[in-house]
Amino acid sequence: MIHGSLFPAASDASDVSGDGALRVGLMGTGVVGSGTCQVLARNANLIAQRAGRPIRLVMATARNLLKAAQVLGPDVALVSDPLTLVRHPGIDVVVEVMGGVTLAKALVMEAIAHGKHVVTANKALLAEHGTEIFAAADARGVMVAYEGAVAVSIPIIKALREGLAANRILEVVGIVNGTTNFILTQMQEAGLSFESALRLATELGYAEADPTLDVSGMDAAHKTALLAAIAFGADLPLDQVHVQGISTLDPFDMVCAQALGYRIKLLGMARQRSDALELRVHPALVPEKHLLAQVPGAMNGIWVNADAAGPTFHYGAGAGSQTTASAVVADLIDVARLASADFSKRVQHRSLPASAIRSWHILPIGQVASRHYLRFAQDERLACLTGWLQDLGVDVQQWTHVQHPEVASHDAWVVLTPSLTGDVLVDALAGLRHRSGGLVPVAVWRVEDLDL
Ligand code: HSE
Repeated sequence: MIHGSLFPAASDASDVSGDGALRVGLMGTGVVGSGTCQVLARNANLIAQRAGRPIRLVMATARNLLKAAQVLGPDVALVSDPLTLVRHPGIDVVVEVMGGVTLAKALVMEAIAHGKHVVTANKALLAEHGTEIFAAADARGVMVAYEGAVAVSIPIIKALREGLAANRILEVVGIVNGTTNFILTQMQEAGLSFESALRLATELGYAEADPTLDVSGMDAAHKTALLAAIAFGADLPLDQVHVQGISTLDPFDMVCAQALGYRIKLLGMARQRSDALELRVHPALVPEKHLLAQVPGAMNGIWVNADAAGPTFHYGAGAGSQTTASAVVADLIDVARLASADFSKRVQHRSLPASAIRSWHILPIGQVASRHYLRFAQDERLACLTGWLQDLGVDVQQWTHVQHPEVASHDAWVVLTPSLTGDVLVDALAGLRHRSGGLVPVAVWRVEDLDL
């Protein structure tokens, strides 16, 4: 532990003021941690009124303690060992915004074992270990609040668990990764290369410490698994989410999609199909008039279709410092209000009691039906394409020729198929290749025809 005039001793974390404040220990003072400090300080009075008592940051731990001291100011005890913080009797709630999984899990479990409530924005942690963490929290009677883990500034967890609690959720389709939406928007509208757009997203604090998580679609998969867990009472089926990122997306496909009246977005989808779930993350064509197609930059948008409410659309910042802090502090306010409430009166971690959480059958991607977009490079055999496809049972609905306005070699025919499963499409494309003597599409993407 470091202490001195700049670092008050950890024992100072006790409630010396006697005003019943919620005493917060902060793990991580990077983008989200520093935003949390700023929001807690700036809106302290308002937050105290809404929470029914002050919320006081009393202790913190960070990789770089000197830098953390500048962020936190002199009133927060800084400790170098996070175990000191999660075990400290003067802490009521631990805010975990350090990221990563292995150490974060050990510390969160230790905090729970010591009777601390936990607020976290760590989607990877909960998507991978949520079942165990929520069970431990239930057994200890503490809350694990995680609004900041999904679509940061959008209160989608509150919307699903509380606002839409009367409904059966039918589908949740969202742009839930700010970094990739920022990259796609910059590529489409500002003509930036993938690399430049990613660099900019990292500079702006949107990307993960390891941006592969964003680009590969894994970050969106973590969030989609959490949304599915809440919406459908699913047992966090992360390993069954079909995931495809944006790195294989050719910017020319954005031009072609636009020519057909679509935008390409990285979507996270959880949808009930009879007694099974579709669960997937991949780039998809979205009709350009749909609200999801219009979500720009690092913003997120989530489309929820529910049996009583019908469709609702939830929009807001998907990444950033104070934007995530907004959710973290809202969770702290919930903890401040509910910490003393009877356990059974609190909202369940995944909306349903653990006994009602089930392992859904997740449809293999080959059995998921949708329309498909196929792009073929210019080839004289294309004159026969729609006829061949029709013979193979694929009745092409829409096709067009696209010539890139600036790149002469980018000259393509693009085709939209009727709705068919991935397996049927693979068979049809094998048939096309055989019949045509080698004709294959250079790009294949799914089309999501959502209701407007
Ligand atoms: N890297 C994440 C994103 C941060 O871009 O969405 C917010 O979860």
